[in-house]
Amino acid sequence: MTGRTIERIHARQILDSRGRPTVEVDVRLADGTLGRASVPSGASTGTHEAHELRDGDPADFAGLGVRRAVAAVDGEISAALRGHDPADQRGIDAALRGLDGTANLTRLGANAVLGTSLAVCRAAALAAGRPLYRHIAELAGVPAPVLPMPMVNILSGGLHAGRGMNVQDFLVVPASANTIGEALHQVAKVRAAASEVAAARGLPTLLADEGGLSPGCPDSRTALELMVEIFATAGLEPGVDALIAIDVAAHSLAGPDGRYRFGREGVTRTTPEVIDLIEGWVRDFPVVSVEDGLDEEDWAGWTTLTARLGERVTLIGDDLFTTNPARLTHGAALGAATGILVKVNQNGTLSGTLDVLADARAAGYVPVVSARSGETEDDFLADLAVGTAAGQIKVGSLRCSDRLAKYNQLLRIAEDDRVPFAGAPGARS
Ligand code: PGA
Ligand code: ZN
Repeated sequence: MTGRTIERIHARQILDSRGRPTVEVDVRLADGTLGRASVPSGASTGTHEAHELRDGDPADFAGLGVRRAVAAVDGEISAALRGHDPADQRGIDAALRGLDGTANLTRLGANAVLGTSLAVCRAAALAAGRPLYRHIAELAGVPAPVLPMPMVNILSGGLHAGRGMNVQDFLVVPASANTIGEALHQVAKVRAAASEVAAARGLPTLLADEGGLSPGCPDSRTALELMVEIFATAGLEPGVDALIAIDVAAHSLAGPDGRYRFGREGVTRTTPEVIDLIEGWVRDFPVVSVEDGLDEEDWAGWTTLTARLGERVTLIGDDLFTTNPARLTHGAALGAATGILVKVNQNGTLSGTLDVLADARAAGYVPVVSARSGETEDDFLADLAVGTAAGQIKVGSLRCSDRLAKYNQLLRIAEDDRVPFAGAPGARS
């Protein structure tokens, strides 16, 4: 026990993939082991996410500084956790929540708490001399880790690309791949074909926040047709080798009147009209999943959408659930959605995130472990997705090292031949 205790926790302000401040935490153990983790940040955030503490000082990164969260780690958090066993993830996460004392981690900041929680996990795995994904599997009570199928951004709009399209993301799922290596190879072909097709059409080839293209298609059907053309150009059969996942991020379209504004088309749609639109996508294109098709408070709409399309595609709640156990329970009781996006910083602790994954599985929801549009070089999510056997991962396009860090870690984990690949996602788990 002596060497494996927390000696000191230290944080610093670093910069994420958008050049904005975020928190990095170092957990130092008495035996010298160093566990380090950093915290991601969203742009199209849900209202019910754990609280990201920012300083609001206009002179420091336009108010986005995280120096108060850093100070909370160096001060209160380090003092409270000194001498604790890092293997006791649950106890440490409970202590962090207790120390904060608020439901949403508003006092110390979810960024301070999550950075500590993840760095503690890494320190414990390193001290035990075992791979992070095996350590996480044990914490999660998952008997066998599994490499996830990626869903990868190809075309982006919404808040990730200057609102160049109303629907936020069109992603590829390389469904016929048999290994993670093959999956990434297929995605690389699709991503290259996307640049090729865009250039040939005179569309912009500059990058959106997660490394996809931002072609500024006037409406969703144009973007879906472009996706199918890109698959064909890549030599992949649409609907067999390559499926389409869509993230509407409808919260960013919802107005105070309960209607959805598709500004590029100059159209406002009611909830039933959005459901009709989504049904058209599913009917006419090889769509495997639709995320945040409706707003986070449109529970009645979600129930209707799920009754209509839940057997045909996975309907994923991101802003709807915000990796929050109470919201998942509420949604499950209503029959809202069939899948859940799992983002560690929406929840605030690793244990809390593992609990949501377990709840999701118990309720029959398809989990997708996800990054944020603001990321760092930290590759924790790869091990999280494998260790929890989540089955799917969403960490952005095959561009930018903040994204590739996760994919490259999956390739390293694939050297462990006891870890199988999840393969194609089903409509329901
Ligand atoms: P965010 O976007 O990280 O900007 O919230 C990701 C998503 O909507 O899934
Ligand atoms: Zn989303």
